[in-house]
Amino acid sequence: MSPTPLADLADILAFYVEAGVDVTVGEAPVDRFAESAAEQAKGRAGARSTPETATPASRIGAPGPDPSPLVPNRPAAPTAFRQSVPSRANALSAPPAGASALVTQPPDEAVMSAREAARNAESLDALRAILDGFEGCALKRTASRLVFADGNPKAKVMFVGEAPGRDEDQQGLPFVGRSGRLLDLMMAAIGLDRTSAYIANVIPWRPPGNRTPTPQETAVCLPFIKRQIELADPDILVCLGGPSAQALLATTEGITRLRGRFMDYENGTESGTRTIRAIATFHPAYLLRTPLGKRLAWRDMLAVEAALKGA
Ligand code: URA
Repeated sequence: MSPTPLADLADILAFYVEAGVDVTVGEAPVDRFAESAAEQAKGRAGARSTPETATPASRIGAPGPDPSPLVPNRPAAPTAFRQSVPSRANALSAPPAGASALVTQPPDEAVMSAREAARNAESLDALRAILDGFEGCALKRTASRLVFADGNPKAKVMFVGEAPGRDEDQQGLPFVGRSGRLLDLMMAAIGLDRTSAYIANVIPWRPPGNRTPTPQETAVCLPFIKRQIELADPDILVCLGGPSAQALLATTEGITRLRGRFMDYENGTESGTRTIRAIATFHPAYLLRTPLGKRLAWRDMLAVEAALKGA
């Protein structure tokens, strides 16, 4: 039998990564609990030493028993931040330098470094660059690129979704797929388009296979989207879907109860905190599956229109 051509192998691997597979299973059983406890302990030790002195073995992806990660290990970069964007090819061949550090960083530390990194951004461009170099969220490993924002950052209204999907991941822009087209129609219904609205997501990297982001991933990304809202400083914030509303409005209420009413959102600004108006509505992807919800979403958009007129 002739060996499978490399290009076919790459396609198969791409298919697995696309489907959300990030680890292979070997023949011998592996105690994952023991493994992750040991990795976390090493990660903590590595975090205490300088990045230069941390050994590559203190990071997940270091050579170990099967099952082995689909993305092979590579030595870590000297800093926790990196400036280049990982490509899909990178994701399949080798992780970006330093990416393995992100997996072992204990959850609290990742959130703390996200907070500090976000705080340091003085402008949206700086925030994008910082996010692009941030290694504290494992989603970056499997995404093709950062999906930061689209539209007009000076707009009075900002829409925030949950996380990019496949089309967004390919184009590097939020809401450009099917739900994006519906969002465009929803905005157009109240006279908005991408020149008069600013659009982003709570999570700026596509979760593999479009899976739901974990609470840890959301916690790590939250300081960045909050800083993005601070820097854009819109008058009206529209949360698209339950996960966005729950993350930004710090509630566990479901979208059906949350939607349609304005709430206060405390937005930090240069000169202190400014209370802006926030409203949640159904996510366009939900509306595509549940057209009956459009009637309520339409009401929400009318509320946004009225608020914008009063803003
Ligand atoms: N769904 C989202 O929440 N965001 C996007 O950018 C696309 C789909």
